[in-house]
Amino acid sequence: MFPTIQQAEVWLQEGVKRNPGWWEAHSRYVGQAARAIAERIPELDPEKAQVLGMLHDIGRRFGVTGSLHISDGYDFMMEQGCPEVARICLTHSFPYQNIDSCFGSWNMDLERDGESARKRTGELLSHLTYNEYDRLIQLCDALAMGTGFCLLEKRWIDVVMRYGPNQYMIPKWKATYEIKDGLEKKMGISIYELLPGVKENTFA
Ligand SMILES: [Fe+2]
Repeated sequence: MFPTIQQAEVWLQEGVKRNPGWWEAHSRYVGQAARAIAERIPELDPEKAQVLGMLHDIGRRFGVTGSLHISDGYDFMMEQGCPEVARICLTHSFPYQNIDSCFGSWNMDLERDGESARKRTGELLSHLTYNEYDRLIQLCDALAMGTGFCLLEKRWIDVVMRYGPNQYMIPKWKATYEIKDGLEKKMGISIYELLPGVKENTFA
């Protein structure tokens, strides 16, 4: 099944009750951006885009777990019978399709085997061919902080400051620029014109 916005809201609120944090507002902004972009592209469904944006980080309901939120979100949404959302939980961190390109650690939860989670996620990831929703949410994730929309470069610096650089940083950024360029061409408008508050939020 595919969840409604109301159902996504229920899961988001439930998740934030378990693990309060910036990811609630961030998830809503990602949903808002995905919807706004989808509204301008006929082959995309705005409601579906919004739901995927709202739930892409739902794996954070299990705590502050770094990259485990990717596999936790995948498992949670599969358990709910929502494979399309589960897929987004998996793909959103990998504009560059390589398991080692995400910044967070797989070993933040010492009670769990992060290495086997990384391996399994890498296996699942390597068998996927990205669709337009995977790419849409990858872009929107990079456009939204907890405080609102901002320049991609601002969010990238924020992430690198928190986690440190890695060797896949440049290909990851290039892949994100490609998504941005492709969607802007289809929309005929810059994402920064489309999304409200970019200037205020970037330079605040
Ligand atoms: Fe996110």
